[in-house]
Amino acid sequence: MSNKERIVCGLDIGTTKTCMLLARVSKNQNLEVVGTGYALSSGLNKGNVVDIEAAAACVLKAADEAELKSGVSIDWVTLGHSGDHVQSFNCHGAISIVGKLNQVTPQDMLQVIRAAKAIPMPPGRDILHILPQEFFLDNRGGIQNPVGLTGSRLDVNVHVVTCDEFLKQNLVNAVNCAQMRVRRIVLQQLASAEAVLTPDEKELGVALIDIGGGTTDIVAFLRKSVHHTSVLPIGGDHFTRDIAMGTRMPIEEAERIKKETGTVSDDGIAEDALIQAQVIGKRGMYGIPRRFVCNILRERALDVLELIKADLEDSGIAPHLTAGVVITGGGSMLDGLVGLAEETLGIPVRQGLPQGIQGITEDLSHPVYSAVIGLVMYGVLKDGDQTMQPARAGAMAWFQNRFLSWVSS
Ligand SMILES: Nc1ncnc2c1ncn2[C@@H]1O[C@H](COP(=O)(O)OP(=O)(O)OP(=O)(O)O)[C@@H](O)[C@H]1O
Ligand SMILES: [Mg+2]
Repeated sequence: MSNKERIVCGLDIGTTKTCMLLARVSKNQNLEVVGTGYALSSGLNKGNVVDIEAAAACVLKAADEAELKSGVSIDWVTLGHSGDHVQSFNCHGAISIVGKLNQVTPQDMLQVIRAAKAIPMPPGRDILHILPQEFFLDNRGGIQNPVGLTGSRLDVNVHVVTCDEFLKQNLVNAVNCAQMRVRRIVLQQLASAEAVLTPDEKELGVALIDIGGGTTDIVAFLRKSVHHTSVLPIGGDHFTRDIAMGTRMPIEEAERIKKETGTVSDDGIAEDALIQAQVIGKRGMYGIPRRFVCNILRERALDVLELIKADLEDSGIAPHLTAGVVITGGGSMLDGLVGLAEETLGIPVRQGLPQGIQGITEDLSHPVYSAVIGLVMYGVLKDGDQTMQPARAGAMAWFQNRFLSWVSS
């Protein structure tokens, strides 16, 4: 592989699995998978690191595998982040345009965004993203890029995502312990959205729900910009634990049963159907009514879906979701969930698989990989080409591109 080729690396340290994806970036910014690495996670709880050494060991295992498969050594990663400490809000900033000919400059854009984020931040919180939604020039809205336009007052609406600085640092430390550095941290659902949603869905209004093992991560788009993000501290592992507790199965067995025979659909389960499973305190396999197990899953699914519904309604975005809801993440694999979500939320729901990179094998085309594939895409799209230098004639355009990618990071 030539040294001049640019390789990007996405790292998703999830509650249940840690995975890494390396992709080659072509001159026209197309991506091609060159290596992947996978490890079962440990040292995490609900998206947060609770044991640095254990988490670092998983990162190292995934990195070793990715390096071996690709023959590339990994220095920098784009890292996904989630957890119930993540909070977000929408806010607004305004400035006067006083320069020559009243034309908006990139510096004005920077300043108006600074004005929007100049709100008192509680100690211990870091800003993860500031995502511009819409600019207004003299109260005329619908502007995505006001640079070069003329006016006297510039306003911006932004979506701000914050997180606990120490919990974020713990995640970075785990990566550093595995001898890699973090180029950028991206909220997980933003990464998943990059890999799963279509531009039309983002324009019309859509919510992406990434149901992981420990958390359910939500992001809603309208007119191509982010209007709502949140993290619910509940995920697929709660379904497994419910089965384990309700039937006294070992957790591993409950996980197997959930994946192999679980459904949240009401139909098609014979009254007398039995599941053969190990049960704590019994020898060999034991027959458990399938209807009983599936009712446990259905009850939990209804709870989670009601929480999602309340979250979307409370944020005010629900009436604007013309393109409905897209579910992804491993939790979206639960049989019957798409149908139940449609019934409960009352809008169209589809399952989202990751797309947009060449060389995605059948194995990788799976909802558990939405975040890591999106992290690679996010890294490339928002970072730009790092070998690019500002040409004199195009210096302004270069600055503008870099600036736009920075403010939307
Ligand atoms: N076929 C399946 N049926 C039901 N659940 C499934 C299936 N496959 C995976 N899951 C569940 O998906 C969850 C893991 O999903 P995922 O890999 O997206 O989580 P994660 O990224 O590690 O966690 P998080 O994003 O919460 O930190 C587990 O709870 C697992 O049981
Ligand atoms: Mg995840």
